[in-house]
Amino acid sequence: MEKAEIGLIGLGVMGSNLALNIAEKGNRIAVYNRTADKTRAFYAGAGELQKNIVPTETLSDFVAAIRPPRPIIIMIKAGDPVDEEMEKLRPYLGKGDIIIDAGNANFHDTRRRFKELDGTGLTFIGMGVSGGEEGARHGPSIMVGGTEDSYKRVEKVLTSISAKFDNDPCCAWLGTDGAGHFVKTIHNGIEYADMQMIAEIYGILRDGCGMEASDIANVFGEWNKGRLNSFLIEITEKVLRASDPETGKPMPDVIVDAAGQKGTGRWSAIEAQQLAVPATVIEAAVAARCISAMRGERAAAEPMFNKEELSFGIEAGPWLNRDLELALFAAKIAAYAQGFDVMDSASQEYGWKLPMPEIARIWRAGCIIRSQFLDDITKAFSDTPDVANLIVTPAFSEMVNECLPSLRRIVSAATGAGLPVPGLASALGYFDAYRQSRGTANLIQAQRDFFGAHGFDRLDGLDIHHGPWGSGAI
Ligand code: 6PG
Repeated sequence: MEKAEIGLIGLGVMGSNLALNIAEKGNRIAVYNRTADKTRAFYAGAGELQKNIVPTETLSDFVAAIRPPRPIIIMIKAGDPVDEEMEKLRPYLGKGDIIIDAGNANFHDTRRRFKELDGTGLTFIGMGVSGGEEGARHGPSIMVGGTEDSYKRVEKVLTSISAKFDNDPCCAWLGTDGAGHFVKTIHNGIEYADMQMIAEIYGILRDGCGMEASDIANVFGEWNKGRLNSFLIEITEKVLRASDPETGKPMPDVIVDAAGQKGTGRWSAIEAQQLAVPATVIEAAVAARCISAMRGERAAAEPMFNKEELSFGIEAGPWLNRDLELALFAAKIAAYAQGFDVMDSASQEYGWKLPMPEIARIWRAGCIIRSQFLDDITKAFSDTPDVANLIVTPAFSEMVNECLPSLRRIVSAATGAGLPVPGLASALGYFDAYRQSRGTANLIQAQRDFFGAHGFDRLDGLDIHHGPWGSGAI
């Protein structure tokens, strides 16, 4: 029997969809699931794609069905299950075989797994896959980390199944070991930031202007035709327009206001902190999800605080919509600039040489944060390769100059009305701090020196590093 080009373990929702996508693009694939019933059901439902699928019920049959060196995708729950599956698989594998973890793994685990296989003849790929169920089935964005040689073995299959932006596959090799999973983590941090800021704008329209969901949907629908055009804005319009089959109310109005999180957004904030890179918008988005989950506390606190200051209200109207659109755009620039900055720093720390224009390029389609805007980022990073930050590229500094006054007006209107906008406000604070040549940390340095004799540098360059307060004086 003709050997399969690739194998896949784990026929859950994501695994099944990815396997069908692989088969549909003309690649022969062997599949295996811990419970054989699932494999049988998957195969039975595969219709005409059965011709490209080899269902197997034992690991030895599974491995034997794949052309060596065998690339094997593991698509199961992240964490210990991946290590356990690798252990079970290893006795059947041979020289050059490639274990590919396509889950949302912590890149530190990916680095460890890559290292553990070093010298065994086997190799490891950590592959970030974005786009949810639909993306897995019809074209995800794929971020690969591992050896370049191992990528070459799977490149054809992966580019065939990935999303395309103007026929350009949204799939790339980004560096060794954890590079792919790290980039996916930052993708998710940006995803959190994007979603949070959209929710804040929704809050201004709902609570500041008293607008109904369907009217807010119209605003997002309008924006999706302009510079904010993106998957997340598109689905925001759709969810706002949907009505609840049980009550007839707008769907968002019946959903509990406590956001879940599986951890990848939080990991990106943690890594930013570890690398000492300011990722304030992403951090604000993670914290906002945490506050949202404290529902009981919020409900108990509400009657305790004076509401007088919350009575301003914000007047709805075309001028406001325009300002909100530009404010959201400016804040989005800050979030992406921060995400790319974290990647730049990680790239140096872990020796990856992450290709920034390439990352922006493969995020243009397929993934959750896909948008036209990422094409602008691709161009900006290609035109100015060694730039310190996205916001100081000529194209983006111009956009920031155009949109910053709107962000300032919206943050001040929202805070004046007592509406929480931590993502937007963090973005504004980031811009204001980033472009301030004389900041206020001189005072912090003086305080540090006062209580701990930590020393400071002087503007005039004199070789004096302590203040007249005496070292260690309190
Ligand atoms: C993607 C998404 C996906 C993620 C969900 C949920 O790129 O397809 O990022 O990988 O799991 O968005 O994440 P949270 O549960 O943390 O919100």
